[in-house]
Amino acid sequence: MPVDGEVPWQIAEHTAAKHDIYRRYLERWFPILLGGANAFPSATYAEGFAGPGVYKDGEPGSPVIAIKALVDKVANSRPVVKFLFIDDDQRCVAMLQEQILGRFPERPRAPEKLRVRYVKGTCIDQLEANLDDLEAWGQPILAVLDSWGNAPIDYKLLQRLASNVATEVIVTFGSQSFVRFVSKLGPAADAVFGGDQRWREVAHLDDGPAKRQHMLNCYRETLGSAGFKHLLDFELVDRRGEVLYLVFGTNHQRGVEKMKDTLWDVDPVKGVGFRDPRDEQHETLFEVDEPLVAPLGRLLLPRIQAAGPKGIRVHDLRKFALHETVFRQQHVIRALEPLRASGKIETTTDGPIRISSFVRLRQG
Ligand SMILES: C[S@@+](CC[C@H](N)C(=O)[O-])C[C@H]1O[C@@H](n2cnc3c(N)ncnc32)[C@H](O)[C@@H]1O
Repeated sequence: MPVDGEVPWQIAEHTAAKHDIYRRYLERWFPILLGGANAFPSATYAEGFAGPGVYKDGEPGSPVIAIKALVDKVANSRPVVKFLFIDDDQRCVAMLQEQILGRFPERPRAPEKLRVRYVKGTCIDQLEANLDDLEAWGQPILAVLDSWGNAPIDYKLLQRLASNVATEVIVTFGSQSFVRFVSKLGPAADAVFGGDQRWREVAHLDDGPAKRQHMLNCYRETLGSAGFKHLLDFELVDRRGEVLYLVFGTNHQRGVEKMKDTLWDVDPVKGVGFRDPRDEQHETLFEVDEPLVAPLGRLLLPRIQAAGPKGIRVHDLRKFALHETVFRQQHVIRALEPLRASGKIETTTDGPIRISSFVRLRQG
């Protein structure tokens, strides 16, 4: 759907935070794959909803951020790096091309080493065909699929991406249009979830947060069923309460760890906080330097309860935090300490809580 309004548009607060995440992640992704002795000969960065490459006050868009991350962080000019940018609004495609030529007038790579392709068309029609044509498969791909939230992405393509070597996706998903128009949306909406119609149960849920939660769970499951082993999802919330939900899918634990490091490195001055979509109290963490660990405590308690009187090892709770929450492993002991101090949990041995400790609900 072309942009409804002028191009370029004003940047939203959480877009700036999202860009900070992209930049920091790409500054890790490119060197890991292309920089060392075991570098891949090639990699592709593809956007299915690229935008115009610039915002109203001149801030760079994600395609510009991606190219800059490569040229800043990979000195090695051996690998071939392909950038594919698709957008279905001709104004965005033209502006993006202008921006990239203007911002990188003398590309520090020969054109055959840094290939940039712009395509006017929809993500569904163009992304896979262009990845084929660029011979991107068999080498790492990072697909950034940043629609306005309705995620019109081919599920079969997600499956193909999930089975490709060292390939990761970052998808922006919004629940509003699915929640509001559930009874009017047809098979194209089911296709977003790989044909699974369980998302439609949203019509029978009665409160807004439960509906949102259901939709986010369904989308997360869609990426899981497409074949991504590790998923990291989180919400970016600005001071006015505007929310952006992102899901990152990878098949490598290292990818999750790097993305998690990225999230917690994000510049705290942007006034945007994180929220774990599973926190029942929807608490947003604005102070990333001093994270409020109460939401993590609420996510850990059911795990500890399920373990029964034998308890669960802190080591296992750290794994859970890494893979199933927005928090880092290092946050776990900080979240357990106040739970123990308030008498909700106990450790099976005295002294400080350690990675090897067992914790359980307080007995008696
Ligand atoms: C959220 S903006 C992208 C912003 C960009 N990723 C950034 O961070 O700078 C979404 C873009 O997707 C484009 N778009 C909307 N529906 C599309 C579709 N089905 N296929 C391709 N592009 C689409 C719009 O024209 C818009 O430029």
